Amino acid sequence: MNINFCPNYCYFTSNNGYYRDENGNGIGTKTKMFRADLDWNRFTDFMVKHFNDKDKVQILQFASSDGSEAYTQIITLLENYKNLDKFFPIEAYDIDKNMYEAANSGLLNMDDKDLTSFKNRNIDWGKYFKLKSDKGLEILNNTLENSKTYSASPVLIDKVNFHQGDMFEVMKNHKDDSNTVVLCRNILEYFTDREVDSFMSFAASNLKNGSLFVTGEIDEGRVDEIIQRNGFVRVLPNIYMKV
Ligand SMILES: C[S@@+](CC[C@H](N)C(=O)[O-])C[C@H]1O[C@@H](n2cnc3c(N)ncnc32)[C@H](O)[C@@H]1O
Repeated sequence: MNINFCPNYCYFTSNNGYYRDENGNGIGTKTKMFRADLDWNRFTDFMVKHFNDKDKVQILQFASSDGSEAYTQIITLLENYKNLDKFFPIEAYDIDKNMYEAANSGLLNMDDKDLTSFKNRNIDWGKYFKLKSDKGLEILNNTLENSKTYSASPVLIDKVNFHQGDMFEVMKNHKDDSNTVVLCRNILEYFTDREVDSFMSFAASNLKNGSLFVTGEIDEGRVDEIIQRNGFVRVLPNIYMKV
């Protein structure tokens, strides 16, 4: 697999690193605020309507990297809806200690392009972040330069718990009541077919009908096929439902 693969529209502003995991898989840590491979507003509208009759919705984020994805999802919910307690806290897992520690510090690297992605959505980034330092937070393996460090406000931090954890273990032990949303974006493609199949068999056993599973831009080929083979149907681009 070409680990440098990325469509033209995608550039990485908050984190871009690479390491080898204990199984020898080359893993990227690339992420950014409002990563454009998901239509965040459309996904959020769908999710809110879909779980309208549920008192609690458990959002699990696997491969949470530096926290950009969790913050993007929280901000999209807050900007569009009220009475959101049932969606929080998000439980976010990354296996890598460096990424976990960066996310859990409440600090996030962003550059001008990240701030532009707020502006393009008419969102005031100052509601959610404060400039902390002109120098980017140092994260092992991160190759990006020219970012500054921002601190996330309590309104974000209080709505997510970051964990250092292996998504295979968490998925294997998850208890669902047809009210789970799994964000598993831009990670499965890094694994072998056998590993993806094993992960999806845990997802298929533990997610009940109606729960959602969300992927990213790099997961659209063989991973899509393995997901559908394990009892999920595609309901929107990159969004699957357990049936
Ligand atoms: C490319 S990033 C994805 C970031 C984010 N989900 C996105 O789409 O922007 C992949 C992340 O998965 C993490 N990761 C790798 N193996 C994992 C595992 N078994 N469980 C949880 N996280 C894992 C890596 O440490 C890395 O930070």
